[in-house]
Amino acid sequence: MPTDFLAIPDFTLAELTALFELAERMRGKRYDRTPLAGKSLAMIFMKSSTRTRVSFEVGAWQLGGHALFLSPRDVQLGRGEPIADTARVLSRYVDGIMIRTFAHQDVEELAKYASVPVINGLTDLLHPCQVLADLLTVRQFLGKVADKKYAWIGDGNNMANSWINAAYRFGFDLDLACPEGYEPADHLLARAQKVAKVRVVRDPMEAAKGAEVINTDVWASMGQEEEQKQRERAFKDYTVSPKLMKEADKNAIFLHCLPAHRGEEVSAEVIDGSQSRVWDEAENRLHVQKAVMAALMGGESLAS
Ligand code: CP
Ligand code: NVA
Repeated sequence: MPTDFLAIPDFTLAELTALFELAERMRGKRYDRTPLAGKSLAMIFMKSSTRTRVSFEVGAWQLGGHALFLSPRDVQLGRGEPIADTARVLSRYVDGIMIRTFAHQDVEELAKYASVPVINGLTDLLHPCQVLADLLTVRQFLGKVADKKYAWIGDGNNMANSWINAAYRFGFDLDLACPEGYEPADHLLARAQKVAKVRVVRDPMEAAKGAEVINTDVWASMGQEEEQKQRERAFKDYTVSPKLMKEADKNAIFLHCLPAHRGEEVSAEVIDGSQSRVWDEAENRLHVQKAVMAALMGGESLAS
C-alpha cells in the first residue's frame, strides 16, 4: 500500500480494484465504519474548487473525521513559507494533507517532508482523484474498466495525463485527440505506450470512433486564463458535439470532470443529454475519495 496518493500508478491494479469495491460499498450504504474518528485532514487549496473541496470535507466528516480548508490567504505558504516547513508542521497536527496547487513537484516535496499521507487534489500535471471517480463511473455504467476503448478530446492537460496513467495501470486502449502544441506529457505517454495502446491523434472523429467512453475538459485550465482566446482558436474543431458522439459506440457514455463550458469543449445537447453521466461522475468523487482516505489515513485494508 502506498503512503501517499499523488498519481494513479501509486496503487497496484489489485489495490485499485479493492479501492473501487470499498467506494461501491460506501456508495451503496454498506459501510458503517468511522475510520477517521478523532482524525483531521488539512486541505490546502492554492486554486479554486467546488467538487474537490466539498467532497473531501463532507467525506472526511462522514468517516468520523474533520477537515480544515486552508487557502493561500489563510496560511503562511501563501506568503512564502517553504513547503517542507509547512509539511513538517502540519504533520504535527493532522493525520493527512490534501493539496491542490500548480507545480506537481510542490506536491512531491510536500509528500517528502510530511510524515502523514498526502493526497493530490490536482496539479498542473495530474488530477488523479478525478480519474479515480471517472473509472468508478465507468464501472457503474459499463460494468468494468478493462477492455474498453476510451477517447480523450481536447487539451493534453492534467486530466489527459491522468487518463494516460490509468491506461498504464489498466492496459486499456486510449486515443487522445489533441491539437498540435497541446499534447499530453511525453514521459507519461511513453511509459503507458509500453503496456497499452495509447495514441495521440489530431482528428477528434478518429479518436471517438467506436469509443465506449468519451471524455473532455475545459480548453483553458486554472492558471491559463490569459490564453483563453488563443486556445479558443486552437480548439475550435474539438467540441464534443452530437455528431462526434455518433462516431462513438452506441452505448458510449460522456464524462467531463466539470466545471464545463457549454458551447466550447462540449455542446449543451451532449452534456445535458442521455449519454452524459457527469452528475454521477461528480458524486463518485465523494465515494472514491472516502475510500482513499479510509485506506491511507484510517487503516482500511486494500489487500484482497
Ligand atoms: N472536477 C473538479 O476537480 O472540480 P473542482 O475544481 O470544482 O474541485
Ligand atoms: N483541467 C482543469 C480541471 C479542473 C477540475 C484545470 O486544471 O483547471
